[in-house]
Order: sequence, then C-alpha cells, then structure tokens
Amino acid sequence: MKIAFFDTKPYDLTYFEPMAEEAGIEFSFYETKLNERTVSLARGCDGVCAFVNDTVNAAVIDALVDMGIRILALRCAGFNNVDMRHAKGKLTVVRVPAYSPYAVAEHAMALLLTSIRRIHKAYIRTRDYNFSLNNMVGFDLHGKTVGIVGTGKIGRVFADICKGFGMKILAYDKYPSALDGVTYVTLDRLLRESDIISLHCPLTEESRHLIGHETLPILKKGVVIINTSRGGLINAEALLEGIKSRRIGAACLDVYEEEGDLFYEDNSGHILEDDVLARLISMPNVIVTSHQAFLTSDALYNIAETTVGNLMAFFETGKCENEVLLSHL
Ligand code: NAI
Repeated sequence: MKIAFFDTKPYDLTYFEPMAEEAGIEFSFYETKLNERTVSLARGCDGVCAFVNDTVNAAVIDALVDMGIRILALRCAGFNNVDMRHAKGKLTVVRVPAYSPYAVAEHAMALLLTSIRRIHKAYIRTRDYNFSLNNMVGFDLHGKTVGIVGTGKIGRVFADICKGFGMKILAYDKYPSALDGVTYVTLDRLLRESDIISLHCPLTEESRHLIGHETLPILKKGVVIINTSRGGLINAEALLEGIKSRRIGAACLDVYEEEGDLFYEDNSGHILEDDVLARLISMPNVIVTSHQAFLTSDALYNIAETTVGNLMAFFETGKCENEVLLSHL
C-alpha cells in the first residue's frame, strides 16, 4: 500500500514512520502542500494523506481520480479544505474525528490566561530584568461569563475547564445537548452577554464570519475572543476594526482565515504581505499561535494511529467508520 503524504513536518515522521512500518504501509513523504501543481506527486500511489492547509478542490480531486486513487486520508478533524460535493461517489474521504479534544481546549485556555494575565509580556520583560508591573493589570476569570460557540467534543472540554475557574457558561450550538452547568442561548444573546467568547464550531457557509462587521456592534465592550477552530469564522478586517475601536478587548488566535501559505512555515526572513495579519500581530492585546492547538504528543500519537487504522480498514474492507459523509455537512 503506497500513500503520498503531503505537507510533512518532522513531528509527523516521528509518529507515522514506526506505525507505517508495523502496518506495512509505504508512505512517500512530501514537504510540499497538496494542490493543483503538486498533485502529480501522488502518481503511482494507492492513496493520499493530507492536512488542514492542503487544497483538495475539484481539479485536485479529478486529478487523483484519473490516477486511480480512491482514498484521501485527512490526518485532521476538519474537512473544510475538501470539496466534498465534488468528491462524492469518486473519492472516499476519511478523517480523524477526535484525537485529543483536551489538546485544543487546553490550548484555548492557555491563550486566554496568557492574554489576560499578560504572561507573554512578563516573559519578555523579566528576561530583560524589567520587573515593573505597569500596564500588566489583568482580571479574574472567576464570575465572568464565557460564551462557547459549538459544544461538540472540544467545546465541552473547554466548558469543563471554565467550570473549574468558576465562570458562568453560555453556549450556542445548532444542536444543543443537555450539559451540566451550561445555559444554551441564542447566538445573538451569547454575543451580547459574554465577557469571553470561544469558538469551537466547524467552518461552514453558515458559520463563516460569525464574528464580522454585522456582529461587531453587538459584542460586549472589552470582550476577549478566542479562536482555535478555523480562521474563516472571523472576518479578520472586522476583528482589527474591533480592536482599534476598543470594542474587542483582546484576541487569541490559533487560526487565521488566510493562514494557508503562512502558518507552519518559517517566514521570519520575509516581508509579510498580509497587512491585516501584520497589524493584528503588532497589537499588544492580540496573541497569535500558528495553528498549534492540536500539537501535543498525545494528539500526534492518536492522529497517526487513527489515520493508519483508517487506511488499513479501507484497503481491507472497502469501508471505514471515519468516512466523511455528505450528511456531516
Ligand atoms: P465536533 O464536531 O465534535 O463539534 C462541533 C460542534 O459544533 C457540534 O456540536 C455542532 O453541532 C456544532 N455546530 C455545527 N455548526 C454550527 C454552527 N453553525 N453554529 C454553532 N455550532 C455549530 O468538533 P470538535 O472536535 O469539537 O472540533 C471543533 C472544531 O475545532 C473543528 O471543526 C475544527 O475546525 C477545529 N479544530 C482545530 C484544531 C486546531 O489545532 N486549532 C484541532 C482540531 C479541531
């Protein structure tokens, strides 16, 4: 079984190589991302393994199908980068629905605490023997209202963490469930009443720009926005406007709408072409991490194990329980 593995990073090799050997899978590891220009690298393979910023549009799907490839194994949970309607009936798409909701939820809380307690500032100051506390005043999380959008696997863990901090929890989900200590409200009410908003829903046409120019005026003044889900949930220009007008008190971003060509790469020697991202990063109350919320050893192990399991199941039985079906959309 030969699989073309796109967007390979050193930590992928650490977890995938030993498992592939055991399973008898031959991975061809490519550092490049999958897109229309690179898809030909998959020729001669039986399947393709891709990640969050690979482009799997109609042209890429047609090229894969023409090469006789029948399976795309996503080594992530989200599948917004795949044209699922075009793939239907031609290419089986499997994913890793859950590898560690704790990794992402804990990162969301790490970003929040770092931001509101100014840990990132303190780290830089004390390295320079600057022990001043000026402009370092934070606020307690205890008693504050957190609004969680999307109470699936990650949103629930985040809610549990917030409970531990003694926060009041509001939630909005298209399909609410009964969760202890969580009050489901309309999205409008959540946006108006929350001191902190954390996004944990998938990116769909409906959720795109959930935080945008229209919603900006109704946000509570000084709200902290956390996004560890997908960049497209926030209109970055509206976010910048909200930061500049002081409506938004702080932003913690692990994802960014235009992250595709930037995140996961060392661009430190280059001029950043994206003015909005450059301006956001320059703000004292914005923290950006490079789509790393998933990056724990536990999650990487689970991703490799499930992906290899998905491929084995597909090639042995023609089926896989982690297939993405159109009904998921
Ligand atoms: P999940 O599928 O368990 O939960 C998603 C929840 O969102 C569900 O309860 C669903 O009903 C709800 N939902 C769907 N559409 C909605 C809408 N329009 N408005 C409000 N709620 C809506 O997914 P999980 O595992 O909790 O992951 C959430 C998101 O986190 C994923 O979609 C993915 O984009 C992102 N993610 C980010 C990672 C990172 O490294 N930053 C890693 C893993 C996931």
